[in-house]
Amino acid sequence: MSFDYLVVGSGLFGSTFAYEATKKGKRVKVIEKRAHIGGNIYTENIAGINVHKYGAHIFHTNDKEIWDYINQFAEFNRYTNSPIANFRGEIYNLPFNMNTFHKLWGVTTPEEAKAKIEEQRKEANIENPTNLEEQAISLVGIDIYEKLIKGYTEKQWGRKASELPAFIIKRLPVRFTYDNNYFNDRYQGIPIGGYTQIIEKMLSSEKIEVEVNKDFFANKAEYLKDYPRIVYTGMIDQFFDYQFGQLEYRSLQFETSVLEQENYQGNAVVNYTDAKIPYTRIIEHKHFEFGNQPKTVITREYPKTWEMGDEPYYPMNDTRNNEIFRQYAKLAEEQPHIIFGGRLGMYKYYDMHQVIAAALSAAKKELN
Ligand code: FDA
Repeated sequence: MSFDYLVVGSGLFGSTFAYEATKKGKRVKVIEKRAHIGGNIYTENIAGINVHKYGAHIFHTNDKEIWDYINQFAEFNRYTNSPIANFRGEIYNLPFNMNTFHKLWGVTTPEEAKAKIEEQRKEANIENPTNLEEQAISLVGIDIYEKLIKGYTEKQWGRKASELPAFIIKRLPVRFTYDNNYFNDRYQGIPIGGYTQIIEKMLSSEKIEVEVNKDFFANKAEYLKDYPRIVYTGMIDQFFDYQFGQLEYRSLQFETSVLEQENYQGNAVVNYTDAKIPYTRIIEHKHFEFGNQPKTVITREYPKTWEMGDEPYYPMNDTRNNEIFRQYAKLAEEQPHIIFGGRLGMYKYYDMHQVIAAALSAAKKELN
């Protein structure tokens, strides 16, 4: 069969585009270099539990259109993300709210909590913060910084907080209510049965042909010759042979174990905020869907400096990388038959609702 589009990558961007294209009668070939579809939202069933293979994914948005759109493909539950922090065995609620402040200082009213933070900010007496450590202390005081920010941030970035730039933390959300809901968005949830079914449904049309274990770069010249239009969701610097240099990422390493017990930590997400613990968090996947299976599956998440061959998870949008990206983006503009999309094609951290919005907007522009 001949195709109107080649979509490189079966993540949320590529799959949303492919789905929209078939609604306009287009035929789409999707190639995916991994052994499965779904990109980073892929969930895998282990011991009856939907395991978020590439990190915890909680869908949240304020946009009703995007919420309705994703609900076409799965029923969502009422999961509310309420992570907790473990600092040397002490448990604190996140995001920073009245429960956190009560545990830290024994305060019970918003007024007392505000006074305590203000007292610590004054004591620190930092007027012009020159690094992340000073910035965080000047915003929330020493206690929250030392117990809940310092270790986690240093593990995440692989550098001392006093050596990180202040701009990384522009503001720190502090909430003076007893509310542990991490997100402020109106809509939030987890697809009952996992995320993979969403991508399966998006790609289920007979006008779509999917091939996994197919790397675009194994046959780049032929793909470019054979397909009139291409949607490319891989790394933009790789597409252009790294001619302006490599873009940098932060990577992660996941260590997943199946445990012969029903409930390991009582919460889906526990952050470990002490620098001495090498992982940043433990995910217990069953709690995303309120599971009551006899076993449980947990994943330890270790931040890692990205090296060629590692999964590129988080773009490092600092001045150097943004400047390199700008040069690639200029080259991309000169190739109007290729749409560069998604978190790797745009070198931008996108949440799921944002990547769907970006794909819908690209599809609208291209197909109308
Ligand atoms: P994605 O990376 O998913 O897809 C790209 C696909 O292209 C991949 O399958 C890749 O294998 C394939 N590919 C690349 N190069 C190729 C090549 N040369 N040939 C063939 N195929 C190729 N969002 C949110 O809303 N809530 C959350 O809780 C989280 N949590 C979260 C945790 C972690 C650890 C990360 C890293 C990210 C999140 N996200 C998130 C963000 C979410 O993962 C993101 O929005 C989408 O997965 C992005 O979809 P894309 O299609 O852009 O990329």
